[in-house]
Amino acid sequence: EKQGFKHYMLKEIYEQPGVVRTCLEVYLRPEWEPQAPYSPVQLGLAPAVLADLEFIQIVACGTSWHASLVGKYLLEQLANIPTSVQYASEFRYAPPPLLPNTLTIGVTQSGETADTLAALEMELSRRQGLEPPLSARLLGITNRPESTLGQLVPAIIDTHAGIEIGVAATKTFVAQLMAFYLLSLELAWQRQTLGGDRLAELVAGLRQLPAQIELILESQERYIEALSHDFSDTQDFIFLGRGINFPIALEGALKLKEISYIHAEGYPAGEMKHGPIALLDAKVPVVTIAMPGSVFEKVLSNAQEARARDARLIGVTPMAEVEAQHTFDDLLPVPEVDELLSPILTVIPLQLLAYHIAARRGLDVDQPRNLAKSVTVE
Ligand code: F6R
Repeated sequence: EKQGFKHYMLKEIYEQPGVVRTCLEVYLRPEWEPQAPYSPVQLGLAPAVLADLEFIQIVACGTSWHASLVGKYLLEQLANIPTSVQYASEFRYAPPPLLPNTLTIGVTQSGETADTLAALEMELSRRQGLEPPLSARLLGITNRPESTLGQLVPAIIDTHAGIEIGVAATKTFVAQLMAFYLLSLELAWQRQTLGGDRLAELVAGLRQLPAQIELILESQERYIEALSHDFSDTQDFIFLGRGINFPIALEGALKLKEISYIHAEGYPAGEMKHGPIALLDAKVPVVTIAMPGSVFEKVLSNAQEARARDARLIGVTPMAEVEAQHTFDDLLPVPEVDELLSPILTVIPLQLLAYHIAARRGLDVDQPRNLAKSVTVE
């Protein structure tokens, strides 16, 4: 069943190009052109779910919460809709005031996470008696449409990743990112917040992703496996990112801690100097995501601040960037892409790094201690 892979997690990491391909096949119209009078995306949602939105609030836990943070960035930057993201366990006991024309999205790969379901139940109950269009504005993003979530909410985006067995979410995370790209592009089309050419550019960029993920897997797995030997005694890791790659820093840290039991923290790179920099010395590796775009130079200078504290610097960055090559001790190269599309690539080396460090330590990668695949209790 593991098809020659040592663990399900590694098999699922390798399934990611196929997962992205499936999402593209299911949800993009193959014949779409920039001049077409219809959207490039076909999500099959009732028009009332997305019409006239003024605000979006997203509830989720764990890795799904990280995907939602990327989603917020996309919904705001592409579709111009203010978006908030909350931990479901926080939202359920203190929901923010309900604004008109708000879409609430629950993101849960299993569709069974108790806190996420409770947050959505709370949202449903306080919408009782509101106009149908308002009560219809509840959307689930899930890998299991047949789950409890699927029965609770009136609309679903199915992430089509196939069953995930490894406790650490990998392919379902990438599939959730795809759901947010597609939703943001659909809303951008409906609201005309992007020109036809920009929309076409992003659609074309999405189509390149499967081959680009394959390239990262093929070119880097051996290197990352070898690199993982250097961290057999490491006790702490810092992950830095900014903008749309800040949530990927959080995700890289979460993957590492949950399967390798190494303490790891993700930070927005600009926050380092406000405290965490005090943690740094030669024993704390710093993994920095530095992708060309709005914050590239800023991230590099944040990484250089860490270098001044003797930290070993590992960079997730395009190979061609000379300045990045000079900044980092170790490079985990990814293809250069539109900054908005980069999270789906930058997460791949971080998954491999967490996997190989944990496997090298001889740990039960697929069944880490104290964790369950879906958390059905509060
Ligand atoms: C991390 C992980 C967890 C889940 C979280 C939410 O690898 O798997 O953090 O992401 O428990 O699970 P779902 O998405 O099923 O609600």
